Amino acid sequence: MKRPYVIINCAMSADGKIASPSGKQIRLSSEGDIKRMYQLRNENDAVLVGINTVLSDNPRLTVKEKYVKKPIQPIRIILDTHCRTPEDALVVNKDAKTLIITGEKNTCNKKFNSNVEIIKCETDKNGLINLEKMLKILLLDYEIKNLMVEGGGRVIWSFLKNRLFDEMFVYIAPVVIGGKSTPTLTRGEGVENKMIPLQIVDIQHIKPGILIHYKI
Ligand SMILES: NC(=O)c1ccc[n+]([C@@H]2O[C@H](COP(=O)([O-])OP(=O)(O)OC[C@H]3O[C@@H](n4cnc5c(N)ncnc54)[C@H](OP(=O)(O)O)[C@@H]3O)[C@@H](O)[C@H]2O)c1
Repeated sequence: MKRPYVIINCAMSADGKIASPSGKQIRLSSEGDIKRMYQLRNENDAVLVGINTVLSDNPRLTVKEKYVKKPIQPIRIILDTHCRTPEDALVVNKDAKTLIITGEKNTCNKKFNSNVEIIKCETDKNGLINLEKMLKILLLDYEIKNLMVEGGGRVIWSFLKNRLFDEMFVYIAPVVIGGKSTPTLTRGEGVENKMIPLQIVDIQHIKPGILIHYKI
């Protein structure tokens, strides 16, 4: 299937957690890793997150000029089957274009600014956005050739499970968060035996943590 080139990027603790036990955002990336993350955003046509990340972190998903000179803002994409994105969320501000991907049977009556487009997409058997169909729409209708997937755990799991990715960067901060329900790098049902194999391309020491670069 023809689809955009997909790069997953995430920061986690030494015990694989990506937020606080209550799901609040925790800064896990160091200054060096944040700079790398913004450069990666700048190099990609679009950046994607799940609706839970929008609701918990309220991210802008833009590129900051502090880290990249003359940034080219990527298109922001939210996987949001039921159109729960708040009208005042930062991700739908006027700083860049935003695509909200909703389920085909969902009507979204919210009022967003003209930079925001709502795209209806087929859902899968779990009622979530069918990623294959969505990627096809992004490539063919929006010319998105490179996509950066930033989380959270459920979204990362969906891309990994469906083998719809090409590379993955995981920054591991030398901290432990703990908590049995704390969001982890991947959520979802997991696999009993058919593990998802990865190849390590490179390991970099971006102090104080390490960055592991994987390929499928
Ligand atoms: N450390 C980091 O780098 C990092 C980065 C990002 C986020 N986070 C953390 O991640 C946490 C949120 O992660 P999360 O796992 O709860 O949620 P999430 O991955 O942000 O969003 C998941 C939601 O997206 C929607 N969705 C629609 N289609 C989907 C599909 N095909 N696959 C997966 N999800 C789909 C579903 O909600 P609907 O059914 O309503 O559509 C689903 O529940 C937050 O605590 C945030 O702080 C950390």
